[in-house]
Amino acid sequence: MLEPRETDGRMQGADDSATSDCQSPLPKVLVVDDLPANSKLVEGVLEPLACEVVVATSGQRALALLDCDEFAVWLLDVQMPEMDGYELARRAREHPRGKDVPIIFLTAMRPSVEGVHRGYGSGAVDFLFKPLDATVVRSKVQVFLELYAGQRRLASAYEELKAAQARLVQAAKMASLGELVAGIAHEINNPLAFALSHVETVKKCLQRVEGSPDTTISPSAEPDWQRACARLAEVGMGLERIRELVLKLRVFSRLDEGEWKVVSVSESVDSVLMILGHRLSASIAVEREFSAPDLLECYPSLLNQAILNVLANAIDAIDGRGKIVIRTSTVAGTYVIQIADDGPGIPRELRERVLEPFFTTKAPGQGTGLGLSITYSIVRKHGGTLELECPPAGGTSVTLRIPGSAPRSLAG
Ligand SMILES: Nc1ncnc2c1ncn2[C@@H]1O[C@H](COP(=O)(O)OP(=O)(O)OP(=O)(O)O)[C@@H](O)[C@H]1O
Ligand SMILES: [Mg+2]
Repeated sequence: MLEPRETDGRMQGADDSATSDCQSPLPKVLVVDDLPANSKLVEGVLEPLACEVVVATSGQRALALLDCDEFAVWLLDVQMPEMDGYELARRAREHPRGKDVPIIFLTAMRPSVEGVHRGYGSGAVDFLFKPLDATVVRSKVQVFLELYAGQRRLASAYEELKAAQARLVQAAKMASLGELVAGIAHEINNPLAFALSHVETVKKCLQRVEGSPDTTISPSAEPDWQRACARLAEVGMGLERIRELVLKLRVFSRLDEGEWKVVSVSESVDSVLMILGHRLSASIAVEREFSAPDLLECYPSLLNQAILNVLANAIDAIDGRGKIVIRTSTVAGTYVIQIADDGPGIPRELRERVLEPFFTTKAPGQGTGLGLSITYSIVRKHGGTLELECPPAGGTSVTLRIPGSAPRSLAG
């Protein structure tokens, strides 16, 4: 049995709440006792365990520690001046970091039934009586250290699972969009090819008829003839536009180009704008300020996806009327793509959260909350960074930075 020494002497380093090494990877145990000698004793008992013991000499100091630290278990003295252990436990429960922490009360006096009820009511998981039995204290604390480690593992596995799920959903979304686009482009291409070729044939035929010395077009037929020729030229122009569109759709889908290669960024941007064309209108100005070289080595389909996600957000943000500026530049070998809109910006309190998978402020069915988190992981796969800025003047600017010599594997 260990007898706590009741002493006036203060433990070194314990007078101002606690000493705590923020870099330590070990789980932390908080010991709260107004008498430093008692805390020292508990520290000695816990020494063999893989944990860091943090000591606080009052309830106030313990509560202040909760603001910057997380603990696997608390060991609280019940009798303390100012704030006793029960009150401290009750107040700790109101703190986000203290609401679930296991609390063990250490007490020299056997509490009454009421005291025990008050202790458990204030969130205790156990009582230990002084003089403390070192083996019992160690065993109980060890159980909570293991529980804490298990919870941490579970939490990080859950986070990984959520991120993997987000990647899968977005990949599936993009794969089906890509397939659809490629399928449509292919289906349009064949009839388009013969329509274009027939228009050319008809034009030549008409030119031959017109140029032939045997042809006389009566004055009454002349306006119709002219009209037919003009309309045919317009049909040709219309078909040309469809051909360009199909080309851009194919650039966008790039299903066969899931590998690392050199692409034209302006072509990528054009193909994405083409895909989003139905959501653009005359009251949305899209400006391009491209000052970087056009070619970039990247995963083309992923780059398209990243640009698409950011542009789609900009279109959503400006809500039908406004300006989007797409800029490219290079800074010290890094390729910079910036997309800025003059929408309402992202509220300060949400900025930390918008990169989280499934975080959305859009109505159900309008957004999955995956766009930015996927863009972020795409940029990271390229070894780059993503930055969101909301200048005081308003709007949002998203900057993707892709280093010149990005990693070639898809790991990460
Ligand atoms: N340019 C922007 N201006 C204002 N808010 C933005 C902008 N871009 C993103 N946001 C905010 O960030 C949130 C998350 O964006 P994210 O692209 O990840 O998901 P989403 O657009 O809601 O859904 P989706 O999965 O369809 O992209 C949005 O719901 C929106 O609140
Ligand atoms: Mg989005």
